[in-house]
Amino acid sequence: MNPPAALLPALRAIVGDAHVLTEGDLTGYELDWRKRERGKSLAVVRPTSTAQVAQVVQACAAAGVSIVPQGGNTGMVVGSTPDASGTQLVLSLTRMNAVRALDGGNLTITVEAGCVLQSLQEVCEKAGFLFPLSLASEGSCTIGGNLGTNAGGTQVVRYGNTRELCLGLEVVTAQGEVWSGLTGLRKDNTGYDLRHLFIGSEGTLGVITAATMKLYPLPKSQLTAFAAVPSLEAAVQLLGLAHQTLSAGLTGFEVMGQFALKLVVKHFPQQRVPFYESSPYCVVLENSDNESDEHARSQFERLLEAAMEAGCVSDAVVAESMAQARALWHIRESIPLAQAQEGLNIKHDISIAVSRIPEFVAKADAALAQAFPGIRLVNYGHLGDGNLHYNVQAPDGQDAEKFLREQEGPVNAVVYALVDAYNGSISAEHGIGSLKREKLEKHKSPVALGLMRSIKTALDPHNMFNPGRMLAARNH
Ligand code: FAD
Ligand code: MLT
Ligand code: ZN
Repeated sequence: MNPPAALLPALRAIVGDAHVLTEGDLTGYELDWRKRERGKSLAVVRPTSTAQVAQVVQACAAAGVSIVPQGGNTGMVVGSTPDASGTQLVLSLTRMNAVRALDGGNLTITVEAGCVLQSLQEVCEKAGFLFPLSLASEGSCTIGGNLGTNAGGTQVVRYGNTRELCLGLEVVTAQGEVWSGLTGLRKDNTGYDLRHLFIGSEGTLGVITAATMKLYPLPKSQLTAFAAVPSLEAAVQLLGLAHQTLSAGLTGFEVMGQFALKLVVKHFPQQRVPFYESSPYCVVLENSDNESDEHARSQFERLLEAAMEAGCVSDAVVAESMAQARALWHIRESIPLAQAQEGLNIKHDISIAVSRIPEFVAKADAALAQAFPGIRLVNYGHLGDGNLHYNVQAPDGQDAEKFLREQEGPVNAVVYALVDAYNGSISAEHGIGSLKREKLEKHKSPVALGLMRSIKTALDPHNMFNPGRMLAARNH
């Protein structure tokens, strides 16, 4: 029998008829968030337990059908949707969303992969703990996807990427076995640390079904400021002052270029954005403290006064309430949505040593303006981590699709040549997916690529998991 034809009844027997989707509108599973590529799945399968995932993997392995693990499908690099062949299975983890255990004494929570990040944050907060991972997509992205991409977000400067927050995983392997590493141990040097292979592997090595994540005490006070800075150099100087003054209290440091903020004002006119008209860049910074609110506030205000005296801040406002703080963060978080509304765009999720960012941006701005007159630069990101979203929008009035078709390659060539020259990374936090696969081949050393292929071949010898994502489908 034709393998897929035998497969679908087997899958229905495992997860139930209602959870093997082959008809109706599957756009949410087949089109990536940025609307860059529309795929076609053989079916979308929605298991509800690790045992079901293992059975689905075994059935697919027997049928020779490949699997695309999917969480909230908010990824930026076309890595969680099927290709156009109609032969790949989307394995959606969103029904696996239970909290299995919260161990306050161990400061850990064990949660299933499909749990939406915001729900996880809320459960932790209700129990009196902080789960610090924070992304603008947190209302839809899942912890499995966060682990799959090693997501960064806006709290990395203090708490690290998702990798640093993870103490253990449960994974279904390509053989359909379950590896359970949910020990919650902070120290365990018993050989290779397998969790780190799966974190950031973008669904190419196994299916993450659950994870044990670190918790932190809820800070007693949290203060947010929005500051206008006269230049990127000034923003970097302010970051240095913030590190010195606030130390581990510095939990967020984001930069936003003027055009990025103009897009927010244009597409979300209800938002009040301070200072942007008179400033090339603005910064959102956050201080979290276990001291009282008054102590934290006076320390924060002293920092901003010192920064003004040093000339690296021209204007600043400190939120007076949680609602005001949310509104200031919301401005920053709205930039990707405003950019999406403005039209198709080219994203560069790059990282460079913080100290060299101003020099990099000056060179890249000049090179792009010269080569592509009228190009619009949407520059913003996690300056505290040396991670910029150095994005590009077509010149005003030009057909964005045509611009991307003709100029994406040449624009990327300019930006990534400079990233290489500055020893940076072509993907700081979004991953590789299929969008950057060829770029990875070009920018990663042959030795590193060889090691990556060896790992892929060892763990997934038949190239069943997310083939063609991250690494080309050949050579395994
Ligand atoms: P998906 O998009 O479904 O999948 C992402 C990758 O992980 C795919 O390769 C998929 O195959 C794999 N995967 C998913 N689930 C599993 C699993 N259970 N086991 C194995 N592999 C799996 N990213 C950042 O890093 N920082 C940001 O600040 C940030 N902000 C964003 C803001 C917006 C508005 C949007 C739309 C996206 C943003 N992202 C950001 C990108 C995205 O939200 C993250 O990459 C997120 O981690 C993806 O989670 P997801 O559940 O949507 O995963
Ligand atoms: C962000 O920091 O807002 C995200 O990574 C999303 C994006 O780059 O569009
Ligand atoms: Zn980001």
